[in-house]
Amino acid sequence: MTTALITGSTAGIGAAFARRLSADGHNLVLVARDTKRLQEQATELHDRHGIEAEVLTADLATDDGIEAVATRLADRKNPVDLLVNNAGFGNKGRFLDVPMADELTMLKVHCEAVLRLTAAATEAMRERGRGGVVNVASVAAFVPRGTYGASKSWVVQFTQGAAKDLAGSGVRLMALCPGFVRTEFHQRAGMGTDNIPGWMWLDADKLVAAALGDLARGKSLSIPDPRYKALMGIVKVTPRGLLGGISSRTGRKYGPQ
Ligand SMILES: NC(=O)c1ccc[n+]([C@@H]2O[C@H](COP(=O)([O-])OP(=O)(O)OC[C@H]3O[C@@H](n4cnc5c(N)ncnc54)[C@H](OP(=O)(O)O)[C@@H]3O)[C@@H](O)[C@H]2O)c1
Repeated sequence: MTTALITGSTAGIGAAFARRLSADGHNLVLVARDTKRLQEQATELHDRHGIEAEVLTADLATDDGIEAVATRLADRKNPVDLLVNNAGFGNKGRFLDVPMADELTMLKVHCEAVLRLTAAATEAMRERGRGGVVNVASVAAFVPRGTYGASKSWVVQFTQGAAKDLAGSGVRLMALCPGFVRTEFHQRAGMGTDNIPGWMWLDADKLVAAALGDLARGKSLSIPDPRYKALMGIVKVTPRGLLGGISSRTGRKYGPQ
């Protein structure tokens, strides 16, 4: 039986990964800050699918939290076969509206934690000659869009670069770039979603199924829906200046996070 560690497992996309991977028979290590919610999730998934679900409470905005998860990933006696770096959040507001402390927290969770956890996991996986890492980015990675877009762009560049560096080692890395997904994300950030057209919303369970399919096919970048594949095709040929202008004017309230 294999084991998957999911950060931000208790809600949204992370919870969809936990549902799908446990249904497929994988043991889980569930990571988030809310211990009670983690324990309820572990019990539910254990009872429903008969898998083992460990709870690891950690705040990935802190060194101690990152270190605790890295230590678990490095445990050679209880190997982790799949790491899903999913924990993340949005900050409402444009550059200079968002407090600097919140910008720095975002870089810690979206970039530093992802770097350190990916390194801890892949070092152990390379020794075993197998393993996988999914780093959850966003289609915002391809649009000039403040610290959020920049941090997700880092996730894409880092993941695809590391995937090349580890090619042939048996370890696969993939950046996952969702569009809008109905989760707790926008509510937590205090962002309104009324102006987002219905067709732009993705279902978290379908997103995860497509992502795992892409990982199995050896892709290093996954944009799991034809609607967003087409949109990203348009983004690619749109001049950066125009794209940045639209993104900035649109306001952080409604942009793809
Ligand atoms: N929803 C979208 O439209 C969308 C689109 C593209 C990309 N994404 C990306 O997808 C990922 C998941 O987002 P989501 O929409 O599923 O969000 P969500 O529903 O708000 O869930 C976020 C999860 O992350 C955990 N978390 C947040 N901060 C954390 C921290 N400092 N340390 C540890 N765990 C933390 C939360 O649990 P606790 O609060 O208990 O810690 C929760 O389990 C994020 O990286 C996000 O940027 C989302």
